[in-house]
Amino acid sequence: MRKVLVIFAHPKYEHSEVNQALIRSIEGLEGVTIRDLYELYPDFNIDVQSEQELLFEHEIILFQHPFYWYSCPPLLKQWMDLVLEFGWAYGPGGIYLKGKYLLSSITSGGSSEAYQPDGKNRFTLEELLRPFEQTAYLCKMEYLPYFHIGGTHRIKDDELNQKSLDFQKLVFHLRDAEKIVSESLPHLEQNLS
Ligand SMILES: Cc1cc2nc3c(=O)[nH]c(=O)nc-3n(C[C@H](O)[C@H](O)[C@H](O)COP(=O)(O)O)c2cc1C
Repeated sequence: MRKVLVIFAHPKYEHSEVNQALIRSIEGLEGVTIRDLYELYPDFNIDVQSEQELLFEHEIILFQHPFYWYSCPPLLKQWMDLVLEFGWAYGPGGIYLKGKYLLSSITSGGSSEAYQPDGKNRFTLEELLRPFEQTAYLCKMEYLPYFHIGGTHRIKDDELNQKSLDFQKLVFHLRDAEKIVSESLPHLEQNLS
């Protein structure tokens, strides 16, 4: 069983609908640790050593957040700035993340169609998530295909329930699958629809 570390960033969890549903679907699962960054570090004063120790203990790192201005909320960026240190995460001696997996799980107001070359947001999510992909590469991690829920303002309860189950299934797969094969993760068909 692989250990899964969920680095979760939502500045207004009490107003969240979609991220709350996703987090609830994996809360309490064996082998899954959830770090609610805004709950832990409301003053942005991140405990770098604790975060690094947790990263070291886990094999799968999952960034869970709403898409804000085509990126992540600021506390996740702060976490990356401080925790992924030169000489620890990358550069000479920076070997502690080597061989681990990273993936982004995002929710967005824009629909999947809006994130197409001919859509309102012009760029695909794959393109917009490149900084995360490149971060993984620099840290010698394998970057896995993202999980996405779009059109959050119009999502119906049954659709959200289904997506939460898809997300839970992905987390189980990452934890339990004998081998992780990027091209055959359970949520990939959903990303194409
Ligand atoms: C400050 C801010 C920036 C946002 N930027 C984007 C964006 O760049 N693209 C997008 O599709 N949605 C954007 N949204 C919409 C959020 O992604 C959406 O409300 C969120 O994913 C819904 O999840 P929740 O119910 O957990 O809050 C933004 C919302 C806020 C408040």
